[in-house]
Amino acid sequence: MTAKRNGRMVLVTGGAGFIGSHLVEGLLEKGNMVRVLDDLSNGKEENLHGLGNGRWLMGRDFEFIRGDIRDAETVDKAVKGVDAILHQAALGSVPRSVADPLTTQQVNADGTLQVFWAAKNNGVSRVVFASSSSVYGDSELLPKREGEEGAPLSPYALTKRVNEDFGRLFSNLYGLKTIGLRYFNVYGPRQDPTSAYAAVIPRFLTALLSGDAPVIYGNGEQSRDFTYAKDVVEANLLALEAPASACGAAYNIGRGDQANLLMLLGTLQKLLGTDIKPKFDPPRAGDVMHSSADTSLAARMLGFKAKSDLMSGLGESIQWYKENL
Ligand SMILES: NC(=O)c1ccc[n+]([C@@H]2O[C@H](COP(=O)([O-])OP(=O)(O)OC[C@H]3O[C@@H](n4cnc5c(N)ncnc54)[C@H](O)[C@@H]3O)[C@@H](O)[C@H]2O)c1
Repeated sequence: MTAKRNGRMVLVTGGAGFIGSHLVEGLLEKGNMVRVLDDLSNGKEENLHGLGNGRWLMGRDFEFIRGDIRDAETVDKAVKGVDAILHQAALGSVPRSVADPLTTQQVNADGTLQVFWAAKNNGVSRVVFASSSSVYGDSELLPKREGEEGAPLSPYALTKRVNEDFGRLFSNLYGLKTIGLRYFNVYGPRQDPTSAYAAVIPRFLTALLSGDAPVIYGNGEQSRDFTYAKDVVEANLLALEAPASACGAAYNIGRGDQANLLMLLGTLQKLLGTDIKPKFDPPRAGDVMHSSADTSLAARMLGFKAKSDLMSGLGESIQWYKENL
């Protein structure tokens, strides 16, 4: 059974995924009780093995429920006795949502509404949920600032926008304290390199470590604000403690830096000591060209500031991929 520690029970939906598993670890390190709800559609139980260098054991130190956030009964059971929720469960990837908008809508938008509704009905005090930099859509303004969103460019981005609107509505209508965190391109250990919809850092790393040419969609000049998973954990922990005045809104969570894909690839080659020429494929539908976060609102309202720089974050990630690929 879960040990009673600081008395706060936190549910992590999508806790067997990349970011979710880091959150479980971070919560346990801070003395919280943790329950995970995940249908393992994309996450893996292995992501929850060996957390905290083997200190935290599933079943002994935290609970795991295998289930779908679209299922009312499952979600109701999972939120019982919970003080707060870190809601991460979703189908990630812009291209996946372009290929299958219906499932993306059902999981990401309807599933989130299900979580909010169950939280409200069960007296959960706070829901912090994963939004995305993709909500900035076709706005060309840089850096991205809350309140300057454009039109969403993909079904994925639209679901994240809808979730933010529901988050605000639930705060105002029902007094459920919600905070959305707009993650900017998160990377780190345990990010899935094998999925057809893998993100760029695991794709580049797998290719380079296997001696294959990394694929760049477009000319490689598109830029992203790559954010290390540990900083995202910190943002979530801060959002759990933030004052009520910070609730009902969404905040940028990034480094406030930009690296284009050619620069990123160059850095990875340097760290790995490789020199493999990339292969260029046509740009992908729904992708934005540039993205970098203005994090001043998150600094002011949550006290958030990213600490990891790209070199150190990539160094730690490479170590993990070398040991686990
Ligand atoms: N990784 C990034 O760069 C990034 C950027 C912006 C936003 N986000 C958001 O952060 C969250 C976590 O992303 P991630 O990168 O860790 O992805 P991930 O795929 O590793 O984690 C998502 C988890 O949700 C689970 N899940 C999916 N559908 C489910 C369902 N119907 N019921 C229960 N569980 C379900 C999956 O099995 C998986 O474990 C997502 O909401 C994603 O949209 C991620």
